[in-house]
Amino acid sequence: MHFYGTAAQNALGHLTVGGVDVVDLAREYGTPLYIMDEALIRRNCRAYVESFRQHYPNFDVAYASKAFLCTAMAALAEQEGLSLDVVSGGEIATARQAGFPMERTYFHGNNKSPEEIRLAMEVGVGRFVVDSTRELHLLENMAAERGRTVRILLRVTPGVEAHTHEYISTGQLDSKFGIPIAGGLALEAAREALRLSHVELTGFHCHIGSQIFDLEGYRIAVQRMLDLAAAVRAETGFTASELSMGGGLGVRYVEGDRPVPPEELVACLSAAVRGGAPERGLPLPKLIIEPGRSIVAEAGTTLYTVGTIKEIPGVRTYLAVDGGMGDNIRPALYHAEYECAVANKLGSERTRRVTVVGRYCESGDVLLTDVPVAADVAPGDLLAVFATGAYNYSMASHYNRFPTPAVVFVSDGRADLVVRRESFAEMAANDLLPERLRAGAPR
Ligand code: LLP
Repeated sequence: MHFYGTAAQNALGHLTVGGVDVVDLAREYGTPLYIMDEALIRRNCRAYVESFRQHYPNFDVAYASKAFLCTAMAALAEQEGLSLDVVSGGEIATARQAGFPMERTYFHGNNKSPEEIRLAMEVGVGRFVVDSTRELHLLENMAAERGRTVRILLRVTPGVEAHTHEYISTGQLDSKFGIPIAGGLALEAAREALRLSHVELTGFHCHIGSQIFDLEGYRIAVQRMLDLAAAVRAETGFTASELSMGGGLGVRYVEGDRPVPPEELVACLSAAVRGGAPERGLPLPKLIIEPGRSIVAEAGTTLYTVGTIKEIPGVRTYLAVDGGMGDNIRPALYHAEYECAVANKLGSERTRRVTVVGRYCESGDVLLTDVPVAADVAPGDLLAVFATGAYNYSMASHYNRFPTPAVVFVSDGRADLVVRRESFAEMAANDLLPERLRAGAPR
C-alpha cells in the first residue's frame, strides 16, 4: 500500500497520519471523518512557491479553494503566502472569516450574481476574473455607482483542453467558461474592457483542465495566451502585466498514476513565458497559477467504520461503510478511483477482495470496486480511503439527511478539529413549519 505524506504504520499495525493514530481520531471525533495531513498541505504549497522563486521573478500562487475550503484552510494558505481563488459569495465569506487579506483573492465564476459582485466590491477582492462581456458591463456599472475602479483579468479559452494523459487542441472551444481567443472574441472583449473607465484590465486568465499528467497542453496554452497578449498590444497599445494559467495539475489516486511534481509545472510554465514573451516583444508578466487538487488531494484521508459485510457467493462481497456518496461523490460522478486500507489492521494480509459501498439509498453509492482489503476485516474496523482531500468535503451533500462529517487537521502528533461534525439539528436549522402544517392544525 502507498503511504502519502506523513502517513505511516505504527507498532499496533494502525495507520497514523501526522503522527496521530487514526484509531484515536475515530474514538475522539467519530466517523466518517476527513483527516487532513497539514504537513503535506504545507509541503505542497512550498513546492509551488519555492520553485517559482527559483524560476521566475514575479509570480503568485493562488490556492483554488473550491478543492477544499474551511476557515482553517484559508488561514493555512495565508500563512504559506498563497493567494486565494474564490468562486462564490460563500467562499469569499469563508476567506473573510479566516481574516484572509482580500486583496490577495481572485474572484472567479461564469455567472456571478449582482449580490456576489456587491459583496466582492465591499470586501475588496483583488481581481475579478471576468468571464463574459455581460459581466464586464455589470462590473463597470456597479463600480461606477460606487465611484470605484476594479481590477480585472479576462478569462479566455485558448482552445486547449487537457485531460489526464492527453490534451485536445481545438480552434473553437465549446465551453461555458471564458471568452474564446478564436475568432477574435477575446481581443474584442479586451478592447471593450479598455474603453471602460471603472474597470482596469491587468491581464488574461485561462484554465485548461484538471487532473493533468502531461505538460504539453500548458506549453501550447502559454503560446496562445502570449499571442493574444501580443495581438491586444498591437491593436490597442495595452500591455498585459498579469498572466494566469489556472490550475489542473494531477495527483496520485491509484497505483499507476504518475503525477508531474509541482516543480516541473512551474519550471515548464516559467520557461514557456520567459522564452515566449521576449519573442513577441512583451515584458515578462506576473505569472499566476491556481492549483487546487495538487495542494490538498493527497493530504486527505477519509476514515469510515466498517458495518455490514455481505458476501454473495460467486458474485462479490459488499463491504458497507458509514459514509459514501454524500462525503465522496467522485466515484459516482466521474468513475474516480481510490485506494483503501483497513486502518486498524495494516499488518494483515490483504487477500480479501471487496467492493466498498456507502450507506446511501442508491445503488450507485459505490466508493471502490473490487479492491483488496485485510483478510480478517470485520464490522467495527476502520476503513481509510486515501487521497480524498480535494473535491470531497467541498462536494459533500446532505442526501438522505446525513450530516456533513467533521474535518480534523493532524500534524506533529497533534490533532485539531477544524470543522465540527454537523448535528441533525443544525441540518434542520433553516427548516420552517408553516402554521397550517403544525400538529393539530385543522385540515
Ligand atoms: N482555476 C480554475 C479557474 C478552475 O476552474 C479550477 C478547477 C482550478 C483553478 C483548480 O483546478 P485543480 O488544480 O484543482 O485541478 N470537481 C472536479 C474538479 C473540478 C475542477 C474545476 N475547476 C473533481 O472532483 O475532479
